[in-house]
Amino acid sequence: MTTNAQTVTALEAQHVLQTYQRQPVVFVRGEGTRLFDDSGRAYLDFISGIGVVVLGHGHPGLAAVIADQAKTLIHTSNLYYHPLQGQLAAKLASLSGLQRAFFCNSGTEAVEACLKFARRYWYSQGVKNRTGYVALEHGFSGRTMGALSVTANAHYRDPFGPLVPGVTFVAPDDVAGLEAAVNDTTAAIIAEPIQGEGGVRPLSPDFAAAIARVTKNTGTLLIADEIQCGLGRTGRPFHFQAFGWSPDLVTVGKAIGSGIPIGAALVAEHVAKQIFAGDHGTTYGGNLLSTRAAIYVLEQLAGPVAANIKTVAPVFEQRLLALQQKHAVVRSVRGAGLMRGLELAVDAQPVIDAALKSGLLVNRTAERVIRMLPPLTVSVAEIEEAVGILDGALATVSVEGSSIEVKA
Ligand SMILES: Cc1ncc(COP(=O)(O)O)c(C=O)c1O
Repeated sequence: MTTNAQTVTALEAQHVLQTYQRQPVVFVRGEGTRLFDDSGRAYLDFISGIGVVVLGHGHPGLAAVIADQAKTLIHTSNLYYHPLQGQLAAKLASLSGLQRAFFCNSGTEAVEACLKFARRYWYSQGVKNRTGYVALEHGFSGRTMGALSVTANAHYRDPFGPLVPGVTFVAPDDVAGLEAAVNDTTAAIIAEPIQGEGGVRPLSPDFAAAIARVTKNTGTLLIADEIQCGLGRTGRPFHFQAFGWSPDLVTVGKAIGSGIPIGAALVAEHVAKQIFAGDHGTTYGGNLLSTRAAIYVLEQLAGPVAANIKTVAPVFEQRLLALQQKHAVVRSVRGAGLMRGLELAVDAQPVIDAALKSGLLVNRTAERVIRMLPPLTVSVAEIEEAVGILDGALATVSVEGSSIEVKA
């Protein structure tokens, strides 16, 4: 570490609440798929702020619209109209098929909003006992009390109980379990089409079809959590479209601002009809700065970025499959498009650490999975470079998990 990095980490150690286990690197600048640390060293960023910076770092077009909006008007609150919320909501409606949007500031808040809207839908119709939720094992929907209540991981949940009551977890391949769990007290099922934090696990077509069937047969609402897999990352505007779902509510976060904090709950019209003024709100949600950025991001995603994903995603998949062929420690290649996981036979952390030393940023989920969420502007050359580094990093572990020392 440089002296500067030591100062940064020492100050944090003293004054920042220690809720994160950070990697030992201090980033000060970014350009496209590269991040630069305080000594000027470049890293290939294949995690993009956990699936957020979809346009790449230092994007000049995004920087220009943010600067322009900052000079014009940043925030007025939801007490008044401004011209941009409606424009952004209309774009999201045409991408998703859900008519309306509620804007907030993060993915977790989008989940909270959907959980509330699902209950309100039933309450408004006089069905006051339909308050439960069915969620999936390995699912992750955030860390606030509501979102945590539908997040499976006991490590995140246990210290904070009692959580929201009435949540039933079902294994994401257990169709009979799903059918048994949903009853006339269930307000909604919440599911990520590809479980991100849980280890980059796509739902199987059979289970996805069961969700569609059960929600249709029982009237239970479906909340598709698209915060990590949505907005083009897998090659479609939303990954629920791969399953032919018609969700009643959809959560949006991460990619939509490419780094400017904004989230959205998308709401189908029949649900929207049961929600009224005063039911939900937030001071910042959908302010001019974040909606202006998001409109720009969606324009880019629909145009040049969508074309890029079509070119690079198949190459990425092929190269990862080649790694699996070569390294016995790689059990499977998971995910779709530019949301990928390499499932290992061992703890993934030594490989993540070796990759970092060689200038590649990826991260570990579900202990044994190397997760990759590069910017959606990533090039084939950058994919080749990243896979080359991963190849070297994978060579430092054996199936038994012993790690060989890597030179910095
Ligand atoms: C599927 C999913 N839902 C919800 C969240 C929470 O979003 P945020 O961290 O932006 O609040 C995440 C974050 O990783 C996520 O991946």
